[in-house]
Amino acid sequence: IETSQRPSVIWLHFQECTGCSESLLRAEHPTLEKLILDVISLDYHETLMAAAGHQAEAARKDAMKTHKGKYVLVVEGAIPVKDNGIFCKIGDHTAIDLVKECAADAAAVIAIGSCASWGGMPSTGPNPTGASSVAEVLGKSVVTIPGCPPNPYNFLATVVHFLTFGKLPDVDKLGRPKFAYSRLIHENCERRAHFDAGRFAMEFGDAGHRQGYCLYKLGCKGPETYANCSTIGFGDAGENNWPVGCGHPCIGCSEKGVGFTKPIHQVA
Ligand code: SF4
Ligand code: SF4
Ligand code: F3S
Repeated sequence: IETSQRPSVIWLHFQECTGCSESLLRAEHPTLEKLILDVISLDYHETLMAAAGHQAEAARKDAMKTHKGKYVLVVEGAIPVKDNGIFCKIGDHTAIDLVKECAADAAAVIAIGSCASWGGMPSTGPNPTGASSVAEVLGKSVVTIPGCPPNPYNFLATVVHFLTFGKLPDVDKLGRPKFAYSRLIHENCERRAHFDAGRFAMEFGDAGHRQGYCLYKLGCKGPETYANCSTIGFGDAGENNWPVGCGHPCIGCSEKGVGFTKPIHQVA
């Protein structure tokens, strides 16, 4: 996947916590430094770039001009549309204007994280800023990698697919790559045998919780959440590298209408 012509990537940040970038920083295969030094050319990323102010703006403009029609645009964070978008401005441009400007000549647009994919945390009711997804603002579908944060390997695999085949991977009707979001977490969960046998943790720290019993009665949303957390985990290898593996119920962070907004189901 290493190429002499590393594709240019412009990464925008809007209404977000930078957790998506933080998640990517902890990837191990490839590591972030290998990704940005050998595989892609990360020409604009407000957290990782050394430039600031006018120099940073110039880097973005340069990349857009030099790689017109060929660069990949990655968007982290939701876009506020209420009151003409005044709630998020960078270099005196609203997020609305920036995403439209940068998407116009991009070869591909990837919305990383639940904020960019469907509004996520910033869009939680009453959504005072009108936080919206990239697809809503652009008026067209884009590839989405939801999750809060998303699994870095789903993003990296999407980029590598684009580099290898010159096109983005197959996606479902929500723009999610099918290779990562076509199965329920519940299907491959390591606690699934306990669910089937009716063995549930009833309180954090009780005997069932300590023995790895199913977390459904603590509010786990794995049965209604499509993602691959239970099969690939986050960061390094090991069984404690995803929420349920650590003993916390899945909150459905990657599902619109499940994570953040839907109350935890009643414990029977
Ligand atoms: Fe942060 Fe979650 Fe939004 Fe990513 S999706 S920027 S981790 S709030
Ligand atoms: Fe399903 Fe959650 Fe229980 Fe795992 S912990 S088996 S995902 S309900
Ligand atoms: Fe999110 Fe649930 Fe995976 S909370 S990280 S979708 S296990």
